[in-house]
Amino acid sequence: MRIIGTGSAMPSFSVTNDMLAEFLDTNDEWIATRTGIRARRVRTTETLTDLAVAASKGALESSKVNPDDIDFVICSNVGNNYVTPNLGSIIQAHLGLHAPSFDLNAACTGFMYALSVADSFIKAGTAHKILIVAAEEPAHFNDWSKRDTTILFGDGAGAVVVSDESDDLLSLCLGTVPNRDVIVYKRRLENLPYEKEGVDETEPLKMNGREVFRMAVESSQKDLHKVMDMASVTPDQIDYFILHQANARILNSIREHLGQPEEKVPQNIQNYGNVSSASIPVLLDEVSRSGKLQEGQLLAFSAFGAGFTSGAAVLRWHKINY
Ligand code: ACO
Repeated sequence: MRIIGTGSAMPSFSVTNDMLAEFLDTNDEWIATRTGIRARRVRTTETLTDLAVAASKGALESSKVNPDDIDFVICSNVGNNYVTPNLGSIIQAHLGLHAPSFDLNAACTGFMYALSVADSFIKAGTAHKILIVAAEEPAHFNDWSKRDTTILFGDGAGAVVVSDESDDLLSLCLGTVPNRDVIVYKRRLENLPYEKEGVDETEPLKMNGREVFRMAVESSQKDLHKVMDMASVTPDQIDYFILHQANARILNSIREHLGQPEEKVPQNIQNYGNVSSASIPVLLDEVSRSGKLQEGQLLAFSAFGAGFTSGAAVLRWHKINY
């Protein structure tokens, strides 16, 4: 599997820490010190579909693939206001594609799961060119009167096109450690006449921040060592670590554990907050479009999220001309 195109799209509206401090008992200094976040983008005028379609167009255009040649669409999405149809189907209709499409939910790790599924389809000969789009709106899961989660999340979409023209994915691992309570967002379904009223209530996002922090650092370090061992490379041989942007302190802990300089672990969390499974493809698109990534360089990805899910990969980069 080779990544041959990337794209991303962020909402136009930016909510700064100072704007949050106008209605929450918090401040820029607290948020920036604890999380590295200065602002987050939240969709107000755009729909999630608009963002997903724009990110997909960027990935398709940069891949130079004829959209008719896309033979699968995999959409990573934790939730949106359509329970059905799936977001992948909605996106592919907007793009005028005629490929089978489905959604996959592995929380913030969803992009890693999508890469794994895409690689399996390609290795099995089921597909030759696949559009993976990660579209997320976790800012819309928050109870905006609660400071602990509202400060963290933003909306956005990132996409890649992968093809069977080369096997650049050197290693990949996925994992899930049972811990249902660490991050939970419950939606209400319709009550049956046989059920007691109010059995299934919607509960805004709840998170045990300290436990997430601990599990994130532990799982990411473990996964990265595993995929580097599988690919027979050391941290020093990796050119860039493209990591899930959940918290700058988590990123710095992982970087220090690996003994790597700041420039090898790019961050955009300061501008966007945590955009769940979209964070890796969005960062990858930005770093790639900046011209930093050269042919043959080694990239490591690592993500973690509710479940508690995690996943990592090492791949050889093929330079994309935008
Ligand atoms: N502003 C000001 N004070 C705050 C805020 C806020 N936004 N939030 C909490 N506090 C207060 C608390 O009430 C507490 O006050 P107290 O000591 O009087 O009780 C104090 O700050 C410390 O609170 P903690 O929750 O212990 O703060 P901590 O240092 O753990 O930081 C944080 C909280 C930022 C959420 C941190 O735990 C964290 O980043 N965890 C990881 C969260 C994360 O990455 N989530 C992503 C979820 S999805 C995914 O991507 C996996």
